[in-house]
Amino acid sequence: MTRNAVVTDWGRRASQYLAKIASISEPGAGVTRLPFTNEHRRALAEITGWMQTANLEVHLDAAGTLIGRSKAPKSAPTLLMGSHQDSVRHGGAFDGIMGVALPILALERLEQEGQRLPFAVEVLAFADEEGVRFPTALIGPRALAGSLDPAVLEMCDAEGTSLRQAMLDFGLAPDKIGTLRRDPATVIGYLETHIEQGPVLESAGQALGVVTAICGIERHQVRFRGVTGHAGTLPMEGRRDALVGAAGLVTEVNRLAHANKTLRATVGTLTALPGVVNAVPADVRLSVELRAPDDLVREQAGQALHTIAKTIANSHGLDLNIARSYHQPAQPCDEALTIHLQAALQATGSQGLRLASGATHDASALADLCPVAMMFVRCRDGVSHAPQEYASADDLGSAIDALCKFLTALANKSPS
Ligand code: GLV
Ligand code: MN
Ligand code: MN
Repeated sequence: MTRNAVVTDWGRRASQYLAKIASISEPGAGVTRLPFTNEHRRALAEITGWMQTANLEVHLDAAGTLIGRSKAPKSAPTLLMGSHQDSVRHGGAFDGIMGVALPILALERLEQEGQRLPFAVEVLAFADEEGVRFPTALIGPRALAGSLDPAVLEMCDAEGTSLRQAMLDFGLAPDKIGTLRRDPATVIGYLETHIEQGPVLESAGQALGVVTAICGIERHQVRFRGVTGHAGTLPMEGRRDALVGAAGLVTEVNRLAHANKTLRATVGTLTALPGVVNAVPADVRLSVELRAPDDLVREQAGQALHTIAKTIANSHGLDLNIARSYHQPAQPCDEALTIHLQAALQATGSQGLRLASGATHDASALADLCPVAMMFVRCRDGVSHAPQEYASADDLGSAIDALCKFLTALANKSPS
């Protein structure tokens, strides 16, 4: 087979894998696969099959991470690869799961080509990166890094089931999570492959790119309280309409982000009570999420948000509660591992374009354990977290090719 035919062939395999596992979903448009559910269990059975076909030894750890390890002595230094199995509600077929399928296929290809690696490789399928079911995320990678706060096990989903109970029902041992912590001296690094989820590679005509940094995130919960009344009889003068205040804040949040090219600011949820057509809204809750590759830019925006919310509350006669509920610092990728990855991309004919990630990833948590690097794969129309999310079989084949080149070059560098 010519080189291009090999790349095409493996790309086709990857597309078939991803199409099949996309059908493991709650009913409805796109993919909905939440952690510690029946869909999660069925996905693990499917991924186990992929791993066994690639001759990996498979086990599920106490945090629900499925691990496929290449046959190597227990004491061998280990390169980690992988991503998450879960999706958002009505998401796409690539976010997360693609970063599980591609390294498995790359290892299968190397094995077929008779390449031996002087280190172990573990492919990790993490349970929960999206944070859709529980108000926390990154349980698997944090467990490996030893940075998981056990208090998160008491957080509940919308049905009132705690994370601890969901994990127990799934057959896991949440109280053993502390034992999963890896010794950094045994880990070479972590390489995550992910769909770009944005338009940069497509605009540049590039199938692949390397990530420089993963943006930081903070989330704020805001509540405005005013006074309700009859929509027809309460005069406009003197109204204390909480939704009018909230609307002002939504506009100002948008303005904040437009004033700084690197900042992203989003009001993603908003509820208004009493929520009837003919009453003035008295109680509005909303969430504000801020993201930036520079922590100072994000933190200054967070402070500005609080100041703006107070000004709005004062001018509309509203009571205000505002609190930062979550934050995660920006995480630069490891420069040496990134240069190595860039060289692998360039060996496939790619420019090795560098770009920052506005989405967060499992790599952000694994950076507490080891050097991390990330490869992005071109995303059609930049659309992600939607059923239309798509990466072509050709691009998947190129990504597998780059992963093989990354692994063989690392093998040549390693002392044998
Ligand atoms: C997950 O994809 C996130 O960036 O929030
Ligand atoms: Mn993802
Ligand atoms: Mn996602």
